[in-house]
Parts: sequence; C-alpha cells; structure tokens
Amino acid sequence: MIRRIARLWRQKETKEQDMADLETLLQKLDRTRIPKHIAIIMDGNGRWANSRGLPRYFGHKAGVESLRDIVRACSELKINVLTVYAFSTENWKRPQEEISILMDLLVEYLHKEIDELCDEGVRVNPIGKLEELPESAIKALKMAVERSRENEGLILNLALNYGGRAEIIEAVRAIVAKVKAGDLSVEQIDSNIISEHLYTSGQPDPDLLIRPSGDFRISNFLLWQLAYTEFWYTPVMWPDFRRIHLVNAIIDYQGRDRRFGGLKKNDKTT
Ligand code: IPE
Ligand code: IPE
Ligand code: MG
Repeated sequence: MIRRIARLWRQKETKEQDMADLETLLQKLDRTRIPKHIAIIMDGNGRWANSRGLPRYFGHKAGVESLRDIVRACSELKINVLTVYAFSTENWKRPQEEISILMDLLVEYLHKEIDELCDEGVRVNPIGKLEELPESAIKALKMAVERSRENEGLILNLALNYGGRAEIIEAVRAIVAKVKAGDLSVEQIDSNIISEHLYTSGQPDPDLLIRPSGDFRISNFLLWQLAYTEFWYTPVMWPDFRRIHLVNAIIDYQGRDRRFGGLKKNDKTT
C-alpha cells in the first residue's frame, strides 16, 4: 500500500514537473511560425509493451492515449493539418490477431472520441486504401467523416492501409485515365497535377515529420509530400510521446533553416 502511494506520488511529482517544463517550453515557441502541417509515424508501441513484459496489445492501447493528447495539442496550437500513420499497406504482414486488435482500437477510438473531436472543430479525414479495411472500420470511419464534415479546425488525416507507393500508383492511374479520355494532355502533367491526385490534395505538404522510437526511416510514408519536410526523431516510444515532445519538435523545427534548394537569406552570392 505504502509503495503504491509512493509510486502514485512520484507520478504526480513527475506530472507537475512535466507541466512546469511544458510551460517553459511554450514560452519559447514562436506562435507566428507554427508549422501548417505535421506528420507523425506513430511507432514503437510493441517495443514499449515488450520492455514492460507486456503483450504488444498494451502498447497499442497506450498509443491511443498519445494520439488523444497530440490531436488536442495540435488543435490548440492551431496547426492546420495533422497526418498520423496508423496502419501501413505493409502492416498486413503482422499476425491476424494483432491486426484485429488494431482495427478494434480504431473503431473504439472513433466512437469514444468523435464528440470531443467535433467540439474541438477537428475534421476526420482518413487516407489510404480504405476499401480494403474490415467492414467495422469502414463503418466507423464513415460515421466519423460524416459527423465531422463541416468542422473547420484541424484536419486529422488518419493514414490507414496507407502506402506512399500505392498512393502514387493510384494517382498515376487516375492521371492516365484522364489523358486517355482526352481531359488532360501529357504536357499538362506537372508536380501540381500529381499533388492534386494524391490523398492529400489541396493540403500543404508537411513542414515537419516526427518519428518516435528511434528508427531512422520513412517506411513508405508520404513519399511525394515529404520532398522538403524537416525530419525530427526521438528515441521516445509512441506510447510515451506527449505534447511536451511535440512542442520540443516544433521549437527545433523553428530553428531550422529551410532553403528549398536555394540559399540562406544572408548568404553571400559570390
Ligand atoms: C506502431 O507500433 C503501430 C503500428 C505499426 C500499427 P509498432 O507495432 O510498429 O511497434 P514496434 O515498432 O514493433 O515497437
Ligand atoms: C510504420 O511503422 C507504420 C506505422 C507506424 C503505422 P512500422 O513499424 O510498420 O515500420 P517498420 O516496419 O519499422 O519500417
Ligand atoms: Mg514499428
């Protein structure tokens, strides 16, 4: 009992410390240069659980809490678009049991959160080959899209059965079909046309990509859109990722010099 109280007290102290740190960090944030679009690869759930001697399921469940916190934080920070990688076209390689758990968690998340998401003005926008998802997931997604359709705050792109290559293939097919039908000429195909045929059509490309869990790869995420995105990595596993890490990432991003292939503002030209 005493040990339990001591643990709870320690957690409380940590939380209070985190809040104080967050306040300090928020003061360093330049509110005029908040990224418009943030993309996150929500990775590390399995390792988080295994390092605690728990089955992977617990990591996925804990990961949903991180998603809740980060969506709320992005909404409060007035970020326009948040794209979260929740299930890739390659994740079907996992055991059926894990896939079912992930789909069930998605359905549960949407049903539990939709009221609050709507209160915050969040528009749910699933992206990926949605038609290949289980019927229960498709139904829950339709409900969330329908309920949040008119919202004008944060756009939450939920990348599900998403693959950057599959997205580009779909775009190429749609463009070729238009060319064949005579609605588009080959000469008109440029990067705008390609962008317009992606799931993220009409949205700015991500300014910042965050990958927790210490891996340094993009795992088939937003291959076209990440051309000039700033990357930010952390060893923190997704279930431990909170707004304090997000704010840290944004502050770091604000210190970057984005040249887009050009020169720095003060660079000598000779
Ligand atoms: C991310 O965590 C969730 C999905 C890919 C669906 P992982 O399940 O990949 O966790 P790790 O990377 O094995 O720790
Ligand atoms: C990327 O994580 C996909 C999601 C987070 C949904 P993975 O765990 O599937 O990626 P790899 O296998 O480590 O590249
Ligand atoms: Mg992983």
